[in-house]
Amino acid sequence: MNKPAPNTATRHDDHLMSLDRVHRTFGALRALDDVSFDIRRGEVLGVAGPNGAGKTTLMNICTGALPITSGQIVFEGHRVDRMPPYRRCQMGIARTFQIPHIFSSMSVRENVALGADFGQGPRAHGDHDTHISNVLEITGLSNQANAPVTAANLITRKRIMLAAALATRPRVIFLDEPMAGLNHDEVESFVELFRDLHNALDLTLVIVEHKIRALAALSQRILILNFGSVLTIDTPEKVLADKAVIDIYLGTQNLA
Ligand SMILES: Nc1ncnc2c1ncn2[C@@H]1O[C@H](COP(=O)(O)OP(=O)(O)O)[C@@H](O)[C@H]1O
Ligand SMILES: [Mg+2]
Repeated sequence: MNKPAPNTATRHDDHLMSLDRVHRTFGALRALDDVSFDIRRGEVLGVAGPNGAGKTTLMNICTGALPITSGQIVFEGHRVDRMPPYRRCQMGIARTFQIPHIFSSMSVRENVALGADFGQGPRAHGDHDTHISNVLEITGLSNQANAPVTAANLITRKRIMLAAALATRPRVIFLDEPMAGLNHDEVESFVELFRDLHNALDLTLVIVEHKIRALAALSQRILILNFGSVLTIDTPEKVLADKAVIDIYLGTQNLA
């Protein structure tokens, strides 16, 4: 595979990925409007904002599901904004979806193995079975590895989708509302799981989440999107105390 030339002008050692003046329009609608920020190597970056703010579009343009209208995206010194999703995935950019994307006719293990095939691939590493077993272990799926996914409940489906993303051997995972639809205890267990993953693996996480308290507990920084623009990007403490952020969430009582 031919690697594109490094873009030395925008390279920064602390920065895993950088968005520079990114725009994405749908007709007259500016879904992302001049968005610039850096994702730091190894951080958990939370992303929040009202419905329609552009959060899912942001995930899509970073992972390649949607092209950008203008601007640039640099990952590890390489321009990636014109690359298709599979090439970005091979470089270490993975994602999960708001609604679990998994194959019901296959077992849990087969779904996760498919992730490994899509990503940097087992052949390059030669330890396919061990890798899949490790991923199943860390996501809490070992005891149901051979079960069909047909009967899996929502949280198990979310674990499978996360495991499939991890199986690609990512450097960064973009997670779109990973806790949507989970109850209080399940949210707690997912916060723990993300903490464990972040500590155990050399991973950067970008998490879109409406449950802003859970997001604040996990993230080193939070980015607030509003009408397609970055309202603020700062520590959870500063973001949650920001008057403009409180206003768009219609008061502190909604910062649940
Ligand atoms: N494929 C698309 N075609 C047209 N409009 C879209 C498309 N995807 C998103 N949008 C619009 O872009 C805006 C941002 O959407 P989205 O990124 O899904 O927001 P969020 O995830 O923050 O709720 C919304 O107004 C939405 O209707
Ligand atoms: Mg969304």
